Amino acid sequence: MRGRFITFEGGEGSGKSTHAAMLAARLKTLGIDVVLTREPGGSPGAEIIRHILLSGLAKPLGAETEAILFAAARDDHLRSTIRPALESGQWVICDRFIDSTRVYQGTLGKVDPRLIQSLERVTVGPLLPDLTFILDVPVPVGLARATTRRGTGKTDRFEGEAMEFHEGLRRAYRALAEQEPERCIVIDGRAPKDVVAERIWTTVNSRLQPEKIPDLAENVAT
Ligand code: TYD
Repeated sequence: MRGRFITFEGGEGSGKSTHAAMLAARLKTLGIDVVLTREPGGSPGAEIIRHILLSGLAKPLGAETEAILFAAARDDHLRSTIRPALESGQWVICDRFIDSTRVYQGTLGKVDPRLIQSLERVTVGPLLPDLTFILDVPVPVGLARATTRRGTGKTDRFEGEAMEFHEGLRRAYRALAEQEPERCIVIDGRAPKDVVAERIWTTVNSRLQPEKIPDLAENVAT
């Protein structure tokens, strides 16, 4: 049986990486084999492209070129990491995926939606995530968290954008969740970490029923 595919999305400092890791750990306690990965990156080829994108080297080439580079990284990630894992029955949890391209390059970067859709078609095809969590926090909260985490380090290509950009991201993610309510769940990321984790767990349980996977009950019992 193909594994399940869960993605986490949200703006800067929304807590998605923390919750992706917490969910992976919890699924593992049920005996589920989980691959925790991220974008851009998640495979050797995609990590090279990540460096080009996040250092800002590609910024002068424009949002279209950046969208194409994110798609190239995604193609390698899918080919080398995600598809093989899902086909072997592992669950994949990915920190950012297609919705980041739709929102950052599409809505905010104003890249033609037809290009975004074509890139999705050739990279992802029908392999949409089974579930996508969108962690939603007010922009000042998210940016303050990102600043604390960064310490004295430099902002990356997207963290350095103006406040307006981050407000736009938040609106775009919410709009996306309204368009695809079956797949995308908005979670209030302001609540204490354990409360957020519990809400995520409840949704995973009701939608994907990890505890009911046939041969897992035996694994857990032994
Ligand atoms: P990263 O350092 O991984 O941190 P975080 O996910 O916690 O923000 O930064 C990835 C950056 O790349 C982030 O600012 C969003 C951006 N991004 C896009 O613009 N488009 C994409 O398709 C993806 C996957 C990421």
